[in-house]
Amino acid sequence: MQGEVSVSGAKNAALPSIAATLLTEQEVFLENVPHLGDVCTMLNLLMRMGTQVERPTPHSLSLRAERLTSWEAPYELVKTMRASILVLGPLVARFGRARVSLPGGCSIGSRPIDLHLIGLERMGAQIELKEGYVEAECRRLKGNTILFDISTVTGTENLMMAACLAEGRTVLENAAREPEVSDLAQLLVSMGAHIEGIGSGRIVIEGVKELKGARRRIIPDRIEAGTLMVAAGITKGDVLIRGGIPEHMQILFEKLREAGMTIQIVDQAIRARMDRRPSPVNVRTLPYPGFATDMQAQMMALASVGRGRSMIAETVFENRFMHINELMRMGAKIRVAGSTAFIQGVPRLSGAPVMATDLRASACLVLAGLAADGVTSVSRVYHLDRGYEGMEQKLSALGARIERVSD
Ligand code: EPZ
Repeated sequence: MQGEVSVSGAKNAALPSIAATLLTEQEVFLENVPHLGDVCTMLNLLMRMGTQVERPTPHSLSLRAERLTSWEAPYELVKTMRASILVLGPLVARFGRARVSLPGGCSIGSRPIDLHLIGLERMGAQIELKEGYVEAECRRLKGNTILFDISTVTGTENLMMAACLAEGRTVLENAAREPEVSDLAQLLVSMGAHIEGIGSGRIVIEGVKELKGARRRIIPDRIEAGTLMVAAGITKGDVLIRGGIPEHMQILFEKLREAGMTIQIVDQAIRARMDRRPSPVNVRTLPYPGFATDMQAQMMALASVGRGRSMIAETVFENRFMHINELMRMGAKIRVAGSTAFIQGVPRLSGAPVMATDLRASACLVLAGLAADGVTSVSRVYHLDRGYEGMEQKLSALGARIERVSD
């Protein structure tokens, strides 16, 4: 594939930023918001609670939670998108109450929210689990020190948002350092929050009485950018990716260079080139700044057509190898031992009908299809639409032969 492509705004920055608008009665204006399934779900959730939402342009949003009529995130919405749990912290902080359905598991793991709830309890909230819902109440949250025994992205985001309106100081120890967490923190600061240690594993929040409106541009999606770079690699192409932030992808750059790609920064854009079969790579997914678990499946597609044997260990989620069975239907040679996959590269994959099981698995199968002999049909691409805006248009513009057909 050859040509230029631009990256959309980051799904995992847009979702918490939309939830953060519950923290103020004033208007919050967000730009560079990606047009995605999950963003629509989050907007539906907020509108059902009484937030006024306007979309002046396809990628900008005006949100105003002046008065809510409901403090509930219902099961039928939460079960389609776990990130709905991000309304919990803001609702309790601003309104003193929330009734949020437990997300339940998903295909990549049980995805508990115990750390979210323990943190809110440490801030004085009464938490009850009833009929599959979390019921939380607290007249006013009190700042406290919260130590995360596991680095959790949305757990850090939920408690950081709650702490903004709590009384006194909150310290989040072993906080997640993902760029999307920092982007949310910057939005909160622009709304009047007092937050120190942004981007570090120790975030300190001094609570304030109220937050005001703000205007913020969502950061670009480093996972979409990474997916497009792997598309260039697996097709031996030369692609210029505009809009990504290189600092957010340093480990990925290293691993793709290890695989034999040339990655250059050309006037703020990322040029990704490959002229051979990939070399073997050893990858271990870790919390940021380690290798992103959201890039694991895409890296596996690349390794599947590589020379020699690669190793990919998934340390963040307990069941994020669902794409392996589908890749093997295309001729990939992969063996799994516990949380590690051993990939014996093959010269070519063969097209086949395959099924997407989750968002990043669907991206992996599209990438594999780009490089396979013959036609690959990927079913259940609604998974893809949750996290990638116009992926087939972007890939077609780079020369891929890809089209959406009805399921
Ligand atoms: C966020 O999910 C992302 N989603 C995920 O992206 C991403 O894969 C994940 O972070 C890791 O980077 C959003 O930001 C909306 P975690 P999150 O809490 O916050 C365990 C995608 O493809 N854990 O950081 O749910 C958990 O089970 C999605 O865009 C607890 O045990 O992930 C997991 O093993 C998929 N208890 C680990 O921590 C808790 O209370 C990391 O999960 C919370 C988490």
